[in-house]
Order: sequence, then structure tokens, then C-alpha cells
Amino acid sequence: MADDLHRGLEGITVAETRLSSIDGENGVLVVGGFPLDELAPNATFEETLFVLYEDRLPTESELADFQSELADSRRVHPDAIDTVVDAAERGLPAMDAVRMGIAAASLTRDGEEDPHTDAKLAVAQLPTVAAAYWRAREGDDPVEPREDLGHAANYLYMLDGETPSEERVRGLETYLNSVVDHGLNASTFTARTIVSTESDVISAVTGAVGALKGPLHGGAPGPVLDMLRDAQAADDPADLVQEILDSGERVMGFGHRVYDVRDPRAAVLQSAAEEFYAGREERAFFEAAREFEDVAVDVLAEHRPDLRLETNVEFYTAVLLNGVGVPKELFTPTFAVARTGGWTAHCLEQLENNRLIRPRAAYVGENDREWTPLADR
Ligand code: COA
Repeated sequence: MADDLHRGLEGITVAETRLSSIDGENGVLVVGGFPLDELAPNATFEETLFVLYEDRLPTESELADFQSELADSRRVHPDAIDTVVDAAERGLPAMDAVRMGIAAASLTRDGEEDPHTDAKLAVAQLPTVAAAYWRAREGDDPVEPREDLGHAANYLYMLDGETPSEERVRGLETYLNSVVDHGLNASTFTARTIVSTESDVISAVTGAVGALKGPLHGGAPGPVLDMLRDAQAADDPADLVQEILDSGERVMGFGHRVYDVRDPRAAVLQSAAEEFYAGREERAFFEAAREFEDVAVDVLAEHRPDLRLETNVEFYTAVLLNGVGVPKELFTPTFAVARTGGWTAHCLEQLENNRLIRPRAAYVGENDREWTPLADR
């Protein structure tokens, strides 16, 4: 094995960023210079995006301009909507539809290719694509975006055609802010690699969606929701956790590659979920999830005393998104709605000081094979 082989690039630093900082040992996440618990519950998603793009908070008029620029760009090309609807009718996975739909954002580009314009087009159109897919899956026509609603509110509106309550919008907004950026994860690295060739930002977002589709990256909250529903029906949640472990499976929503302690996003999303569920009939679901967390942490500690397996971002994502009315099938696309902010900000950052990303591979193949003509093989 080559001495300098770093499988999966683990521990290798390949870029400088001012977008987010992760302290895995102490469980601290800073986004755009703000501790996550300062930014996520307070900012609108547009404010968070502005902070990532411009490295400062917007003034009132700058925010209004930015919001209307995004709102004006929400409409997806009709041919792209047809493709997304076709994908839904064929039963293709939501992320395949999102990849195809967002790739077509180039069709709505007015004028020359420009990284900043492309970034806004991608951010503005991803929710429209995801919602159109969901509507078609349910046998309904797409709901046209509304320019008078903010980014998060309009996404919820396009899912069911109803103006969402402030509580639902706040819950979704806190989620979007919490997962907008997280260092050089696989999809963000993909996006940076694509623009490092001086390709365009829409290509980068399309590639990043492909990377996020994989279950090792964006796919855990759906299974978390299934598990929590099973836990609610089980006599003893501890038995359920033990059964999962005995069958050699992992307990979804626990453990993280980067965090040695509880994922800081779990705390922010837990608070948001607690606030959202307060006083609602469905509060029992939140309480059951809290109880399940405690039980599972204990069972996991007994199972693996050498590790500290605590809740990661996906656990309370499932609880919160379920509460605000995002269907389980859209959990990963909704992650993409948020992460498009991070992907595009990373693209712009990469282009500020670009260097083609081009690592090496250690060759382990043959060197002097002799050619055999086809007829002799
Ligand atoms: N349940 C049970 N065991 C777990 C576990 C979990 N949630 N997470 C890690 N482990 C165990 C693994 O089985 C492994 O055991 P081994 O040493 O006997 O092979 C050990 O801990 C280390 O796992 P590894 O996959 O090398 O650690 P990692 O740091 O790369 O794992 C995750 C990170 C997220 C992939 C992992 O914790 C996991 O699969 N969690 C469940 C899925 C999930 O919630 N994903 C969303 C992540 S945000």
C-alpha cells in the first residue's frame, strides 16, 4: 500500500473556508461566524444565505432585494416540470427527479453563464422541483410558487397549496439553517471539485445532488422516522434497540464520523421540535422520541462501552420535519433544499481563489501486459 494513501481523504485538508467550522471533539458548529444556536433559530433562510454569500448580515433593504431576487427565480422551465412529473409517475426516487429537474435550471438562465446568478437560480428552484415531484407522486398538479412568500414558507405552500402557519415556517427555517453547511462533506466536496474545473455552478449543484442521494450521506432521517413509529408501538423501546443491534443493524440517527459527542445540530433541532410540538396533540410523538433517545443512548453505551454513540442531526430532523408537514419521501430532497445554500456558497468561495482539485491515485494494476488479438481470446 502506498505510504501516502488516504482512503476517503479522511483527515486531509484541501481547502480554506469561512463558511462553517466544526469542532468534533467539543461538539461545536459555527456557521458564517455564528454559533449554530445563535443563527439557526433566529435567521430566515434568506438571511443565512446572505451571510454565507457576503460574509455579513444584510441590511433591511439588502435583504428585501435578495428575497425578491430569489422569489423571481423560483419558476422552473415547463419542460423540466414535465420531466419531474414523468419521473414521479414512473416511480423513480425523489432524488433522481431533483437531479434531473435542477440540471434544467440552465434553461431559465437569462443571458451569460454567471456563478452568482446560477447560485441563486439553483437555490430558488430546488424547492419548486422537489414539491412538483411530491405533488405528482400524490397524483396532483404542481402548485405554482408564490412571490410574496419567503423561501421556507413558499416551499411548504407548494407542497399542499395552503399558506403555512408561522410555526411551521419557523420550524422548517430552523432546520434549513441548521443543515445549510457542514464543512467538506461528500456533496460539498463534489460541488467544489466540479467548479474547480471552471465548469458552471448548476453543473456543480447537479453533481452534489447525485452525491447526496447516497444512503451514506443524506438518507438517514426516513429510517429514523420508521424506527420512532415502531418505538411508539413497542412495549419497551429498549427491547427494540436491542433487537436492532442483535440483528447486526445500526441504530439510525446515532453516531457521527466527525463528532465524538452529541451532534450540536441535534440540540438545536430538538429545541425547535420542542417549541413546535408544544401544546399540540402530536406532542406525544415528540415526548416518545425524547424518551427513545435516552433509552437508546444507554443501550448503545452498554453495547459499545468503547464508543460514545449519541444522537446525530438526523434524529431530530425526522421529528421536526414530520411535525412541520414535510413527507418522509421528501426528507432527503429537503436536505438538498438547505444544502444548495452551502454548495453554492462553497462554489463561489472556490472560484475566489481557484485551484483545480486533482488528487492522485496509487496505481496497483499491471504494467507490461501483452496484447491478445480478439480472435485468440
Ligand atoms: N448503531 C450501532 N452501532 C454503531 C452505530 C449506530 N448508530 N454507529 C456506529 N456504530 C458502530 C459500528 O457498527 C462500528 O462497529 P465496529 O467497530 O464493530 O465495526 C463502530 O461503531 C464504528 O463505526 P464506523 O462506521 O466506523 O463509524 P463512523 O464514525 O464512520 O460512523 C456513521 C458514522 C454515521 C456512519 C455511523 O455512526 C452510523 O452508521 N450511524 C447510523 C446511521 C446514521 O444515523 N446516519 C446519519 C449520519 S449524520
